[in-house]
Parts: sequence; structure tokens; C-alpha cells
Amino acid sequence: MKRTYFITGGAGFIGSHLSERLLKEGNNIISIDNFNDYYDPILKEKNYEIVKRTAEENNCHYKLYRGDIRDKNILEEIFNNHSIDGIVSLAANAGVRPSIEAPEYYVDVNLMGLTNLLEISKNNGVKSFVFISSSSVYGNNKKVPFSEKDAVDNPISPYAATKKAGELLCYTYHALYKMNIACLRYFTVYGPRQRPDLAINKFTRLMLKGEEIPMYGDGTTARDYTYISDIVDGTVKALNYVMQKDKYIYDIFNLGGSNPITLKKLIDVIGEATGKRPKIKKLPMQPGDVNITYSDFSHAKEILNYEPKIKIEEGISNFVKWYQSNILEVQ
Ligand SMILES: NC(=O)c1ccc[n+]([C@@H]2O[C@H](COP(=O)([O-])OP(=O)(O)OC[C@H]3O[C@@H](n4cnc5c(N)ncnc54)[C@H](O)[C@@H]3O)[C@@H](O)[C@H]2O)c1
Repeated sequence: MKRTYFITGGAGFIGSHLSERLLKEGNNIISIDNFNDYYDPILKEKNYEIVKRTAEENNCHYKLYRGDIRDKNILEEIFNNHSIDGIVSLAANAGVRPSIEAPEYYVDVNLMGLTNLLEISKNNGVKSFVFISSSSVYGNNKKVPFSEKDAVDNPISPYAATKKAGELLCYTYHALYKMNIACLRYFTVYGPRQRPDLAINKFTRLMLKGEEIPMYGDGTTARDYTYISDIVDGTVKALNYVMQKDKYIYDIFNLGGSNPITLKKLIDVIGEATGKRPKIKKLPMQPGDVNITYSDFSHAKEILNYEPKIKIEEGISNFVKWYQSNILEVQ
């Protein structure tokens, strides 16, 4: 069935991939993005062009509003202009370390912006909502793998605290207004168009230039990396789940790969994919960084039939090929 979805942060890394996938499935997409300069907005313009082309190729309606989720007027304009069936809330300030420098800004965007979205959804009777949370809510959880049943009361960055608070706000709207809401805890997402501030993109860039790779800590910290097509797949499944009319849903899902690899191993895998020998510069651990992320995604598997497919070597190889043909050629 053709539906109209509202995707916030639609010109970003994950938002543009999700938009493409939903358009290819024949849906209409309405989107908002403020094209902020957290990283080069030219990259977001390129993402926008790709999504626009996908919409044309699939004969679907696509409109992106250039605006801010903290601006209630533009949200009202959007809901007045379009009949929205479901929402995916991706727009956020996404970096962990910068959130320590600018906590007010993170709270403002990630929580006031989210509240505006929940309010406008409630006011317009839109009952299906997917909120994108993060594995960072687990902080330095001692038990691995991380399960949705674990207590997440010890976030160690303002970013993580806003994501946990966002999950709570979502619960409140579910309880008060019977909205169906899924909160998705993404575990580090990578693939073509990945944010340039994230490790895989940054290390690839430095390695190809023959520059040193800053390695924070002794290389034993580990991350559970999730390839973009697997994340998009899980997100679409969660969206279909909350679209069910006869259900009363609030749920939290880990979307990860359940296969953490150490920082040292990650650097080696990128070295192989780029054909370069990594030059490592050892630096102390950074505040806010967690030691390990490791997802138990059995709940998402059971309820959503989520099953990540792409292994790290294949995913990194895809990323490096994309980087070489899309980023290097324009530098
Ligand atoms: N990439 C990851 O590894 C990862 C992991 C866990 C969670 N997440 C979450 O997934 C979401 C998307 O992340 P991403 O990696 O695609 O980041 P991204 O920065 O590429 O995308 C976010 C988009 O939101 C837009 N945006 C930010 N503030 C806005 C505002 N006030 N109004 C309108 N638009 C605004 C940005 O311009 C950007 O295009 C974020 O909520 C992030 O916290 C990402």
C-alpha cells in the first residue's frame, strides 16, 4: 500500500538512505532538514539530489522542507500541506564528543525538537512514530551483549542522556495519546555517505592521504558496527510494525550487528581495503567514549524479523570503493 511518510533529518546519512528505500517501495516521502554545518552541507545537498532522482525514477512524490524541527510554524505548514501516515524521527545533533562542549544545544534540538514532533503528530492524529535512539544509552554497561532489558540509567555523555530522555518522552505520548511508538537503538552505522566525523570515514580519509590515524586508547575498545542497508531494513520493519492499526505498541529495539570488533582490528580492515599500511598515533581515551558496544538483537529478530547480513570486511570494502569514486574525485 502506498503511504506518505514524514522523515526528519532526511538529507543526512541515514535519512537519505531510508528515504531512497521507502521511495523504491512506492511510498511518498515528505522530509525536513536544516542542512546545518555539523559537517559539510554540500554532502547533504548531494544526498538530497540522490533522493530526488530516486523519487523521479519511481514516480513518487518527494518534498524536502529546508527548516528546523524546533520551528513549530514549519511543522504546522508541513502537516497542513500533507496527509502523513507515519513518522521517522532521525533529525538530531548526533556526535558524542561535541555534546560535552555544547550540552544546551543538544538538549534543545534532540529534546525540544522531538517534543515538537510528538505534539504535531498527536494534534494531527498521526499514531505511528519511530524514534531513533542510540546504543550510547547503555553507557559503560558491564554486561554484554547489551539487552533492552538492561537498566540504562547511567549515560556518560549529554548526547546519550538526550536519547534516553527521548525514549521516555515517547513513552509518555504512547501512554497519554495511544500512539504506536518504536524506539530504535542504532549501533554505530556505516556505509556509503557515512558522516565524515565517524571513525570509518575519518580513518579511510587519513589512510588514503598517507596521514596518521589517531587511536584513542590502546586499540582494545570495541564497537558493534551496523551496515547501512541492515539499519534501513530494520527501520522499515519497525515502521511497518507501528503502522498496525489494531495494536497498542511501545517498544524498544536494538539494531546492531552483534559482532563487535576492536579499534585496532577496524584500522587493519580499513588498511586492507585501502591497500595502505596504517600509521597509528596513540592518544589517551576521550571523555564520553564507552569501552564497548555490543548488541543483543534477539528482540528485534523475534518481533521484526530483523537479521543483519553484511559482515564488516564486505561493508568496509563497499565504503572504501564509494569513498574513492565519490569523495576523492571532488577533492
Ligand atoms: N550514524 C550512527 O552511527 C548513529 C548511531 C546511533 C544513532 N544515530 C542517530 O541516527 C540519526 C541520524 O544520524 P546520521 O548519522 O544520519 O546523522 P546526520 O547528521 O547525517 O543526519 C541528521 C540530519 O538531521 C539534520 N538536522 C539536525 N538538526 C536538525 C534540526 N534542528 N532540524 C532539522 N534537521 C536537523 C542534519 O542537517 C542532518 O542532515 C540521529 O538521530 C543519530 O543520533 C546514528
